[in-house]
Amino acid sequence: MKIVCIGAGYVGGPTMAMIARECPDITVTVVDIDEERILAWQSDELPIYEPGLKEVVDESLGRNLFFSTDVGKGIEEADIIFVSVNTPTKTFGHGSGRAADLQYLEKTARNILAHARSDKIIVEKSTVPVRTADAMNRILNSRNSDCSFEVLSNPEFLAEGSAVKDLENPDRILIGGHDTEAGRKAMQTLVDIYARWVPKERIITTNVWSSELSKLAANALLAQRVSSINSLSALCEATGADVGEVASAVGRDSRIGPRFLNASVGFGGSCFRKDILNLVYLCESYGLHELAEYWHQVVKINDYQQDRFVGSVISNMFNTISGKRIALFGFAFKADTGDTRESPAIRIAKQLAEERANVVISDPRALDNARIDLGDLGDRVTYEEDPYRAAEEAHALAIMTEWSCYKELDYQRIFDSMLKPAFAFDGRRILDHQKLYEMGFNVYSIGKAPLTHLDA
Ligand code: UDX
Ligand code: UDX
Repeated sequence: MKIVCIGAGYVGGPTMAMIARECPDITVTVVDIDEERILAWQSDELPIYEPGLKEVVDESLGRNLFFSTDVGKGIEEADIIFVSVNTPTKTFGHGSGRAADLQYLEKTARNILAHARSDKIIVEKSTVPVRTADAMNRILNSRNSDCSFEVLSNPEFLAEGSAVKDLENPDRILIGGHDTEAGRKAMQTLVDIYARWVPKERIITTNVWSSELSKLAANALLAQRVSSINSLSALCEATGADVGEVASAVGRDSRIGPRFLNASVGFGGSCFRKDILNLVYLCESYGLHELAEYWHQVVKINDYQQDRFVGSVISNMFNTISGKRIALFGFAFKADTGDTRESPAIRIAKQLAEERANVVISDPRALDNARIDLGDLGDRVTYEEDPYRAAEEAHALAIMTEWSCYKELDYQRIFDSMLKPAFAFDGRRILDHQKLYEMGFNVYSIGKAPLTHLDA
């Protein structure tokens, strides 16, 4: 059996590496139009940073895992085609800012049609609006062809930073297909692949639309949880409650559960915002305006949380940060990844720079992406991998990403090198606030009352 995956990104690359490792008898080829990416997957420096991924790729590379830019050949030879191209939010025309831009997906469908010489199972891996598989089906069957195409939905739930673990041991595999003989057969083929390493009871089959909607729903509910705890964090700061204590108390309720209740400077990542906006657009297009407004609030609270953070930096630093050096510790949207897509640090860095602060960005993995994201700010922003140097002569430091290395820094050394009064803003609640306060820092953390020496 031969599998091809179109799109060698954060989803396509790791997922195919895992299938190749677990199914040594299946030839897996990952194709992409981006030549640099394809070369990088075969080099010592993978195009994405993901703990444990290099080892997984190395196990199969050149044996049954291949990377190529020849999309046509890949399609021609494959029995199963995974489609994992990106589906960003539209930035133009109808639905701009909300609807998914499906142009790459449609191009891929046309490409499949142009190169297919035999029957294919098409697996939609990209996150898409509900009913996209249908549209794909229509394109694929628009021409009288001797080949038959069966489109399945198989959304990926891996999270960045833990992709290898998530792929090895997924909570569930979701496969949506048509309830026809051909649909059931295609689903079974895909079930059999995953069943090589995933316990059968974790493989769920549904109709296509349920599968497509489940992916949007899962991300919407997760993001909603973050926005919910973040909304409570603002109330904690105002009342003197501690959002960590609140989260831990409510999380003990087994109906609520303890995970995904870390208040933060806001959620980022390529999926949450895009998928919620997608859901909002979907609701609107079915005339369900109240629902659209309901889900839209999740994104609005997330923006509010970031703006609130900047507001706190400005107001606590005597209402001006002009000319002040502010070191941002972390730029990735979460720890253990170099990915900065939709990272709250982008919006925050931009706002601080607009206030004419002298922003210094530090991150162990994401500085290359940061330079691209903040390209328009020119020399208003500087980059410094070493956090000690970033904080030297700074008025403030702000934690943007919960990298564990930031918990272990020598904050006394940092305090000594900073200008006074020294400020610490913890957007991820990872620092020992009491200890920092005792050193002399004025400490402002998301979700709790500040610890400051300035009131007296
Ligand atoms: C994936 C999903 O595909 C997306 O829908 C989901 O919401 C997030 O995860 P991801 O793997 O993170 O996207 O995207 P990205 O890293 O941008 O990878 C997509 C790849 O597809 C890129 O390497 C791009 O070059 C490639 N591509 C895109 C093609 O090969 N052909 C195209 O026509 C378009
Ligand atoms: C998410 C989903 O978890 C995954 O299932 C889906 O396939 C893709 O989208 P990802 O974006 O990689 O994965 O990361 P995730 O761990 O979900 O975190 C998303 C954002 O929420 C990050 O910015 C993270 O820092 C933030 N977050 C998460 C919080 O602020 N608090 C939390 O308690 C959890």
